[in-house]
Amino acid sequence: MKEIKFDFNNMLSINVGNVHGVEKDDLLEMAKDISLGHNHLRALAQDSRNRINLGLEWMVLPYQESRVVSLIKKLGDEIASKYHNVIFLGIGGSYLGLKAAQDALASPYYNEFTKSRDNRPRVYFEGNNLDPDTLSVLLKNLNPKKTFVVVISKSGETTETKAAFISVEGWLKKGAGKNYGRQIFAITDPDSGSLRKRVTRENAKDSLSFRSLPLLKGVGGRYSEFNMGLLHLAVIGVDINKVFKGAKDMEKKCSSADYAKNPAYMYALLHTILYKKKSKPLAIMMPFAEGLKSTADWYVQLLAESLGKKFRRKINVSRDGVEEWAKDNSSIVNVGRTPIPCRGTGDLHSVQQNNIEGQNDKVVTFIRVEKFNSEIRISAKGDILSQKGFTELIKLAQEATEWALVRELRPNCTIILPEVSAYYWGALLFFFQMATAFEGELLNVNAYDQPGVEGYKNYMYSKLGKPGIPKGIVEEINNNPLKKDQNYII
Ligand code: PA5
Repeated sequence: MKEIKFDFNNMLSINVGNVHGVEKDDLLEMAKDISLGHNHLRALAQDSRNRINLGLEWMVLPYQESRVVSLIKKLGDEIASKYHNVIFLGIGGSYLGLKAAQDALASPYYNEFTKSRDNRPRVYFEGNNLDPDTLSVLLKNLNPKKTFVVVISKSGETTETKAAFISVEGWLKKGAGKNYGRQIFAITDPDSGSLRKRVTRENAKDSLSFRSLPLLKGVGGRYSEFNMGLLHLAVIGVDINKVFKGAKDMEKKCSSADYAKNPAYMYALLHTILYKKKSKPLAIMMPFAEGLKSTADWYVQLLAESLGKKFRRKINVSRDGVEEWAKDNSSIVNVGRTPIPCRGTGDLHSVQQNNIEGQNDKVVTFIRVEKFNSEIRISAKGDILSQKGFTELIKLAQEATEWALVRELRPNCTIILPEVSAYYWGALLFFFQMATAFEGELLNVNAYDQPGVEGYKNYMYSKLGKPGIPKGIVEEINNNPLKKDQNYII
């Protein structure tokens, strides 16, 4: 079986010169950090206490028991056979993995064509913004009796998801009859949060109402596709075992201490060197496959929330090896590469101009697909395109983009995917998760929290009067209002 390959030729000085490319010495200088990072990550991976407490349980998700997969498949098939539409509500890590899977693994134009989706239900994603237009049009057009709703929120508290859920529940209640709760499924924390409380109350009244799946402990939103995304995969008919097999094979490859054989380590290492030593803070993720656009969006969240941090990490280890991570408040570091999603070939007619001639502060990651699920051969005669296949053309466009970047000494790399299938997609996600975790080790930041996101949440909650916000935070918000001088609004 072919493997995913990571081609990093164009990140090296041999191709883009020593001002912009990585040299052998740069790698040798990192030897100590590499072995420290590897040893730490492996030790964490092997200790379930640390995995759960610190948020690294994602490392073992592909090894979930087959009975869990069978149960979820059964649930997915049951929903698919009874309903015409399924609405998934969730945001951030409770949405982006599902959307990435939908676009990569379901047929293109899935909702439009019944045959292409094997008669399975149409799928809609909501609760991932607060724009009233999309949800209201959706609810105006769907039949509540034929619609199933899956609400996903680890905390059970997130405003966007909660607001959408309250609205959708009201709509179901009105249109689907008194047993409407049987058309609701919740994926949330097993113990805490208002969604979990609601599930418990509803279950006590009717065990078929508000059925739920508990999220595993120690899995943060952006690392949770192989946990909270599974029911969605089952609804659209994706073979979860194949996704897991791809992830497991990648996990084995990415556990090697030898970075020359470990694509995730190499990816993290070269990007860290280019970021720190060659002034390349921008990370462009550019798949040449329409189905992988949302996977690029998923990666944007993974990189931005995991590594964009104000403080480094301070590690305390107890005598029996249990770790506690705190913020190292001694200095502000503000680290983290900035991810930007891009797509081939569409964006070659847009952002690519800046990638090639704008500031040389970016590293482009291409995702190249070797074989697509279908092929179109161009039939016209007497044209340079005659008899060419679309696959040949898209691959040529990707190669041409690499060439153009190299000519301008712009570092870039290519992840080569034999095809977009459940197996390779599972492997690809695991690869990025491992690479991000290792990059977190090299930067010495906590790659599993997102304290920066709390700022806006606290502001909103405080203005909405949510109980329980610490007094100090409310005071800070009230004492520092936004300054809106009308002279500066024209
Ligand atoms: O990665 C994360 O943890 C976040 O992006 C969350 O997924 C996001 O904030 C949604 O949170 P929740 O699932 O609690 O609604």
